[in-house]
Amino acid sequence: MNKADILAEKLAKAHLGGGEDRIEKQHAKGKLTARERVNLLLDPGSFEEVGALVIHRTTDFDMQQQVFYGDGVITGYGTIEGRIVYVFAQDFTVFGGSLSETHAEKICKIMDMAVKTGAPLIGLNDSGGARIQEGVRSLGGYADIFYRNVQASGVIPQLSAIMGPCAGGAVYSPAMTDFTIMVEHTSYMFVTGPNVVKTVTNEEVSSEDLGGASAHSTKSGVTHLTAANDVLCLRQLRELLSYLPQNCEETPTQLPYELGTEIREQLSDLVPDNPNQPYDMREVIAGIIDDGSFLEIHERYADNIVVGFARLAGRSIGIVANQPYSLAGVLDVESSKKAARFTRTCDCFNVPLLVLVDVPGFLPGTDQEWNGIITNGAKLLYALSEATVPRVTVITRKAYGGAYDVMNSKHIGADFNFAWPGAEIAVMGAKGASEIIFRREIGAANDQAAKLAEKEAEYAETFANPYRAAQRGFIDEVIYPRETRRKLIRAFATLENKVVTRPKRKHGNIPL
Ligand code: COA
Repeated sequence: MNKADILAEKLAKAHLGGGEDRIEKQHAKGKLTARERVNLLLDPGSFEEVGALVIHRTTDFDMQQQVFYGDGVITGYGTIEGRIVYVFAQDFTVFGGSLSETHAEKICKIMDMAVKTGAPLIGLNDSGGARIQEGVRSLGGYADIFYRNVQASGVIPQLSAIMGPCAGGAVYSPAMTDFTIMVEHTSYMFVTGPNVVKTVTNEEVSSEDLGGASAHSTKSGVTHLTAANDVLCLRQLRELLSYLPQNCEETPTQLPYELGTEIREQLSDLVPDNPNQPYDMREVIAGIIDDGSFLEIHERYADNIVVGFARLAGRSIGIVANQPYSLAGVLDVESSKKAARFTRTCDCFNVPLLVLVDVPGFLPGTDQEWNGIITNGAKLLYALSEATVPRVTVITRKAYGGAYDVMNSKHIGADFNFAWPGAEIAVMGAKGASEIIFRREIGAANDQAAKLAEKEAEYAETFANPYRAAQRGFIDEVIYPRETRRKLIRAFATLENKVVTRPKRKHGNIPL
């Protein structure tokens, strides 16, 4: 055999992974192979593999008899929309995609390359966990990856797709990346599986219920996105990346856009006159952003706040918006955490923030207090206060109490604060406020209900509007809803070269 044929034979073996039978099994489960996934994820023909001929070094349990080129993970680089990304894809057909020492070394190598060259890292996870035959060497390999995840955090975008099992220690790499996407019904994530759960807690639960895409997108918030199948998952990864820059030194790609009048009449009567009647903040978002550009994150988790990426005149922005449709848009433990995390993700990757406010306050109750609404609400306050990206606020209706401060108020560093004419910026709603400050007067009245109504009207007249805040300059401009898009396009364009310098410190101490 000539030398080229020897190479061809080795590469052919590498491309076959664990062999035809196991590939068939993978397909039978509705899953693509690692190589198919990489090819679909990247621009056609752009993949360059690194380490195709790596093999493991284990001899215990006669492992030298079982050697597969690549050792259960495909690593390399390629492009997405012409931009370089580094990628690893675990190959379930080789030892169940389990992580050996060499498998981990391959991943670490491309993580280091991604950081050195300032390019995003995408991990396609599909693995039975630590390679059982290798013991602690495999655990060391995980820790090498975790350590790199943390060092790369905030430097390059790190995206994780969960496209099969991801259990035990393996879950902590995705958990430390910026985004996790799970494929419905064929993936799961948990620290301990159903058998251990049964032994320890006596609970009977399936893998899907314990750690499937549905559980993690609604109950735990561990996954940011879900996809119906592998192909849609890979498409979402491409889309998500389009809103992000290559690294923290760059800004996201701006798409070409020609300005028109940018008036959106549909925003004019979107907010109901009755302050207690809900409306869908997603319609406000749709009325502001470039058509169809919203990529919602954590859509089904803590839905009293809406977060996601969008484009405004071709610019990538992150949106944080109270959702009056759910719990009247109140801030609670989960929604504060969700919004804080998204805010920090945008801030570390230079994605400007638009905050849409309609918030009646923080959710009262023992459940909230005992679950730490103080610490968790502080996360959002902290995250917004420390964000140095361009920050613009629009108050569409209520901005009450401490939540007014938290939701990107002028006082915590927002650059432009707008309010719609129906905005109510006050310490609390007119009824609650009147009951407290006019208690004696109301108590002494013959007709207490009438007195309360009178006082309520008086309070509303004085405070349930945006003008007190505008008089102080806390609101820069009260704007017509239909002009919101135009105002925001100009505001973000003006802020494009915003620079903020902070005092020297090691790092802040966000309440965790
Ligand atoms: N180490 C070494 N080999 C592993 C492995 C691991 N952690 N996990 C799976 N494999 C191998 C299996 O031995 C099997 O090999 P074979 O094709 O030569 O028979 C192959 O991968 C496929 O695994 P299989 O169990 O047939 O697939 P499945 O889809 O039925 O189940 C899992 C998948 C992940 C649920 C199951 O393999 C499992 O429980 N693995 C162990 C998980 C674990 O405890 N990991 C260690 C802690 S992190």
